[in-house]
Amino acid sequence: MDFDTNELSPKQIYKLMTSIIVPRPIAWISTISKDGIYNLAPFSYFAGVSSDPPLLMVSVGSKEKGIKKDTWQNIHETDQFVVNMVTKELLDKMNISSVAFDREINEFEKAGLTPKKADIVKAPLVAESPVNIECEKFQILEIGNMGIIFGKVLKIHVKNEILNEKGYVDTTKLEIVGRLGGANYCIISKENTFEVRRPDL
Ligand SMILES: Cc1cc2nc3c(=O)[nH]c(=O)nc-3n(C[C@H](O)[C@H](O)[C@H](O)COP(=O)(O)O)c2cc1C
Repeated sequence: MDFDTNELSPKQIYKLMTSIIVPRPIAWISTISKDGIYNLAPFSYFAGVSSDPPLLMVSVGSKEKGIKKDTWQNIHETDQFVVNMVTKELLDKMNISSVAFDREINEFEKAGLTPKKADIVKAPLVAESPVNIECEKFQILEIGNMGIIFGKVLKIHVKNEILNEKGYVDTTKLEIVGRLGGANYCIISKENTFEVRRPDL
């Protein structure tokens, strides 16, 4: 079957793309509004896009035409955010934080999570997450109804328990959650990861 995007609605395109571009990591983004209210929500249109300079990208939609989701609005206003990684144990709390709560609602309270002071940015870290990435806004591209947000990575916090003997992060210890299509997810674990060395010339 062939799909011509010109013949599909945005919803159909969303369903198709998110079912085939998998697995996607989840940026669990904490922000603070200009009035000081904490916000937390997950985004899986997310990728690391450059190491020099260190940049990541997340694509945030609108609540309705012309009204930015709270995460986008807060980054637009404060220029700062934190990406927290989602592990198996945090899946249910991540899901609660995806509810379209009103702007004045603090999702940390709704999901029973602990905000922790960051070193550089005003947005809080999710204390329960083993990886927190402090970011400042690098650029926001407004395309259609989306805000394609590029963040410059300022500081990465990694819990010591997940480092191996050489000091590298052992991803399999984290059990990071990935998003598939619809309501489906996957988990990166020791059992389903393996090593492939690049061939020598
Ligand atoms: C796993 C997951 C991934 C999501 N990915 C995105 C995404 O990439 N872009 C987006 O706009 N919304 C995404 N959403 C929906 C937002 O989390 C949801 O609209 C949320 O209410 C936005 O909150 P905010 O208004 O506080 O920013 C996702 C939801 C879930 C559960």
